[in-house]
Amino acid sequence: MNLNKNYENLEQSYLFSTVAKKVNEFAANNPDKKIIRLGIGDVTLPLCKKVIETMHHAVDEMGIQSTFRGYGPEQGYDFLREAVQKYYSAHNVNLDMDEIFISDGAKSDLGNILDLFDKDNVVLVPDPVYPVYVDTNIMAGRKVIFTDANSENCFLPLPDKNIKADLIYICSPNNPTGAVYNKEQLKIWVDYAIENNALILFDAAYECFISDSELPHSIYEIDNAKKCAIEFCSLSKMAGFTGTRCGYTIVPKSLGKLNKMWLRRQTTKFNGVPYIVQRAAEAVFTPEGQKEIKENINYYKENAKIISETLKKCNIWHVGGKHSPYIWLKCPNNMKSWEFFDYLLEKAQIVGTPGAGFGKNGEGYFRLTAFGSKENTLEAMNRFILL
Ligand code: MLT
Repeated sequence: MNLNKNYENLEQSYLFSTVAKKVNEFAANNPDKKIIRLGIGDVTLPLCKKVIETMHHAVDEMGIQSTFRGYGPEQGYDFLREAVQKYYSAHNVNLDMDEIFISDGAKSDLGNILDLFDKDNVVLVPDPVYPVYVDTNIMAGRKVIFTDANSENCFLPLPDKNIKADLIYICSPNNPTGAVYNKEQLKIWVDYAIENNALILFDAAYECFISDSELPHSIYEIDNAKKCAIEFCSLSKMAGFTGTRCGYTIVPKSLGKLNKMWLRRQTTKFNGVPYIVQRAAEAVFTPEGQKEIKENINYYKENAKIISETLKKCNIWHVGGKHSPYIWLKCPNNMKSWEFFDYLLEKAQIVGTPGAGFGKNGEGYFRLTAFGSKENTLEAMNRFILL
């Protein structure tokens, strides 16, 4: 038995586990202090009413002989794929049902999709970046190269024609920076991918936070993107499904063999998302569900505004927060990311995520999330201003 040696090339622990460990240690040593967590992008509002009602009904169905379900289709039930198809058509994107694959979330699919690609592909990721893109490729022994996202390009890097990549990761609205590509900028990436015979892995997990009708929710709003992109999306941030688990991946048939390969992969290694969860997800796309989740998204957006206004008052440079739940800020007084993490935890008991954990260009930056409660966000910002 030989181990996968590529694991030796990973950081010792996943970023959010390191943050959690540090916070737990601080909490154990300071039991009287109230810690406000604005670190990991986990939602705090409960599932909306329509989702809960539908889920209860689905639970009851599972207890009745005539409506009980065993294994479902690995790629998802038709009722949910139809709902996703309709959701896309609202953005003028037409998808065939067999281009839509239901999964237990974007993170799993982003990792699992790599089964379809040869080890020798060169992977291009922005820096800073959601660590999953890098770590899953390191695990497979693939070469990862970086494109710089920094304050000069407003954390929205564009392709360098002199660099040849095969797989390209784009996340917009971006995790961790909250920056959003417009259609013209995404078109430049699509043109580059087509010219280089490359594939874009587009992470749209935060699309529901976009409130400007000119900004693209899906890469398929760009001409020709169906010839060069797979899109991943999730109900985690959209509808509070971080613990319920449901997402969807779009593999257009115009990508050739990839659509059938992904079906083959999923039918072999995955048994589908539970019926109860798929019914809950279907409820998200009903008019009532949409209305209720929008109220929750607006609640988080209001928190983002509170954070952004506080940072403005403190003259702290930042991006994001407008079409995204993430606010990406420059650490005050030229502090390094982990130094600022310790300082904030120690002095104000606020937890954020150190930018350096997302890559070298994240050094000196810090991420706050708007997913807390409004009370906690206000309290955290009151503490922040007094620092
Ligand atoms: C984050 O904080 O970056 C998110 O929790 C990422 C994720 O959804 O896995």
